Amino acid sequence: MGAPAKGQSGTSSLGVGLIGLGWMGRLHSEAHVRTRHHYPDSDLVPRLVIAADSAPDRRREALALGYGAVTQHWEEVVSHPQVHAVSVTAPNWLHRDIAVAAARAGKHIWIEKPVGRDLRETSEIASAVAGAGVRSRVGFDLRYAPTIQRARTLVQEGVLGEIRHARATFLSDYASDPQAPRTWRFVREQAGSGALGDLMVHIVDLLAYLVAPIDAVCATAATAIAARPAEGQPDVMLPVENEDFVSSLVRFANGAQGVMEASRVATGRQSYAAVEIHGTLGALAWSFDRMNELQLSVGRLSSGDRGATRVMADTSHGTFAAFQPGPGLLLGYDDLKVMQAHDFARSIALDAQSAPGMDEAVRAARTLAAMERSWVSGGWEGTEQEGKTRSEYGKRPVSSESATRSDQAEAPDVGDEERET
Ligand SMILES: NC(=O)c1ccc[n+]([C@@H]2O[C@H](COP(=O)([O-])OP(=O)(O)OC[C@H]3O[C@@H](n4cnc5c(N)ncnc54)[C@H](O)[C@@H]3O)[C@@H](O)[C@H]2O)c1
Repeated sequence: MGAPAKGQSGTSSLGVGLIGLGWMGRLHSEAHVRTRHHYPDSDLVPRLVIAADSAPDRRREALALGYGAVTQHWEEVVSHPQVHAVSVTAPNWLHRDIAVAAARAGKHIWIEKPVGRDLRETSEIASAVAGAGVRSRVGFDLRYAPTIQRARTLVQEGVLGEIRHARATFLSDYASDPQAPRTWRFVREQAGSGALGDLMVHIVDLLAYLVAPIDAVCATAATAIAARPAEGQPDVMLPVENEDFVSSLVRFANGAQGVMEASRVATGRQSYAAVEIHGTLGALAWSFDRMNELQLSVGRLSSGDRGATRVMADTSHGTFAAFQPGPGLLLGYDDLKVMQAHDFARSIALDAQSAPGMDEAVRAARTLAAMERSWVSGGWEGTEQEGKTRSEYGKRPVSSESATRSDQAEAPDVGDEERET
């Protein structure tokens, strides 16, 4: 297996390979390198060994980023003897083959969402990872925001009381222009689902992380723009093969209810991921475009001062302190990737899996699959999480009183604690 060897300094070098040097590939590369600046006590120091991309200009860029070698064949990354860990940042249709091959070659994997194109592929990757005993990390970025880490603590400590309902949205307008070309994201064979796997997956993970596992969903979906110009051929129109918009009602395992919505044609919104949670004692609200802030409302029910307090990200929230010395100093999206890279390296150094890895990816994929079934059936669908039978997702009334003790006992294995696999 890809076990890094210790050097004279006591730290080890983690040989990194990367496949797909687009937006995410660049972010992963920089994040690997930045871990040594933000987490200087790390036992593992990433070293960029080799990157693969099918495009020559991207390979040149990889050399400029510091990779020792480049190739157009991803198989060379997976089989490279100095590579211990592989960043899988290629388009979706390549994820399964790359991730399964990497795991079988004993490489740890940091893979971008949605992981597989569907539940079957995600499960295949999870099996390969489990079978090889390698560590995994999944690009569920939102849960890394220090204010989200704080939100989770507040929920878990009961500061909001019993959670009654929650909602999350991920709205983007990257596909609002009907003249935007039909890239791989609009082709089912290449992307899998549309807004579901691209955007909804993030907030499915976020609500499972903050509230409780999602038990059942009732979803609807639509493709707003049915055809788009072919790439490089503006006069040739081709069909859009997956959905632009998904919305869903949600029932959580702890009895809470929720609403979720994801759109890539939400004109006027850009990467607007947001969550609100309401409990018997208080509420919180957060959005990605102000990710250093948490709107918190507690202890005000009977006062004349209702409303939310703005809580700023602070050194006691997550690993904020690895980046800034105090509140009001703002983190950005790239920093969340550095945190992921660090967690990934740490789980390899400790040989202990931590979340979010393949367990969380499969859990999210089960929820997405239930949403797809639901928008076809037109009714509620259970998420069929591991260990539950279909009959356990019956259409019971979901008042907060109906949450049973056994529901609560099954609640979140979504912690930050390391776990052995
Ligand atoms: N975590 C997030 O929020 C987030 C955001 C964006 C994208 N993603 C995911 O990251 C992945 C990549 O998305 P992106 O936006 O970076 O895409 P991109 O199109 O910017 O980059 C993909 C790269 O892969 C390369 N590539 C294509 N075929 C290849 C092959 N056979 N071998 C090697 N390289 C190949 C392309 O040349 C390109 O450089 C997708 O799975 C996407 O869903 C995650």
